[in-house]
Amino acid sequence: MKKRILFTGGAGKAGRHVIPWLIDKGYQVHNIDLTPLDVPGVTNLSADITDSGQMFNALSMHTDFAELEHGRGVQPFDAVVHFAALARILIKPDNETFRVNAIGTYNVIEAAVKLGIKKVIIASSETTYGICFAEGDKQPHYLPFDEEYDVDPMDSYGLSKVVNEKTARAFAARTGADIYALRIGNVIEPHEYENFPGYLDHPETRLRNAWSYIDARDLGQIVHRCIEKNGLGFQVFNAVNDTITTRETATEIASRFFPGVPLKHELKPREALISNQKIRDVLGFEEEHDWRKYVDA
Ligand SMILES: NC(=O)c1ccc[n+]([C@@H]2O[C@H](COP(=O)([O-])OP(=O)(O)OC[C@H]3O[C@@H](n4cnc5c(N)ncnc54)[C@H](O)[C@@H]3O)[C@@H](O)[C@H]2O)c1
Repeated sequence: MKKRILFTGGAGKAGRHVIPWLIDKGYQVHNIDLTPLDVPGVTNLSADITDSGQMFNALSMHTDFAELEHGRGVQPFDAVVHFAALARILIKPDNETFRVNAIGTYNVIEAAVKLGIKKVIIASSETTYGICFAEGDKQPHYLPFDEEYDVDPMDSYGLSKVVNEKTARAFAARTGADIYALRIGNVIEPHEYENFPGYLDHPETRLRNAWSYIDARDLGQIVHRCIEKNGLGFQVFNAVNDTITTRETATEIASRFFPGVPLKHELKPREALISNQKIRDVLGFEEEHDWRKYVDA
């Protein structure tokens, strides 16, 4: 039997790469979004994450007509991957960004765990570290950013993601479910490597992403590993690739843009300033899409 994955927000930038990855790994994927994802094998349901009733229903109903045939009733999902969101500030008014992301995530996690689903993976964000959407200059407490960092964003989107991590932690504590929050870096689709020469020439333009990124296909690998890794309870994982996206070394970039900020350890020359050590150690992540494969550095 294929594992049944309920994915929210699968029609978005990240989901449309992650879902084919999961299908390739042998999962059956059902997408809940306001717009459908047209990928062979994926079933779709139009539903709004901000409506709790819709989420309880979406997680406990048939995915397509074919399921009527076997007569065994609605089959449970093995895991929920929750990506649906307003994916940055300045798309909607700030309060709406907070509402959709915080309430939507509460609704998805609550429905999942109360329906007995034992694995939930949610999209958190690099913006929790507070640099991405900061007003003016903001200095990190230390570098590289790791999962122990005292997250302190000042914007409604980053704040919604911090709240979502707390929501995840609360439901994991109450129910014993595994709920893993991925602090996703700037998602790079394959065609976007064409922008990297500009990034390399102007590293100041990538400061807000801490010169990190996650290849959309490598994000698929991370989600797959999260689905397969059980028993960790609540976890936060940075979801980024291994190396810094600059010509300069990590130490040169840190001292140029964040002078005086303490380093947690001596930086390797190509070390990313958002650390992915934890996904490598705990999940066994091995990046396949180093940006240098696609860009002449
Ligand atoms: N793209 C990035 O660089 C990045 C970085 C860090 C974290 N993230 C997070 O990763 C996730 C996916 O990001 P993305 O870039 O694919 O975003 P996206 O905006 O491309 O896709 C989000 C999807 O969510 C759906 N959606 C929005 N509101 C909804 C609602 N009320 N009900 C149902 N569906 C709704 C949209 O229709 C869309 O398909 C998001 O949670 C985002 O915050 C993205």
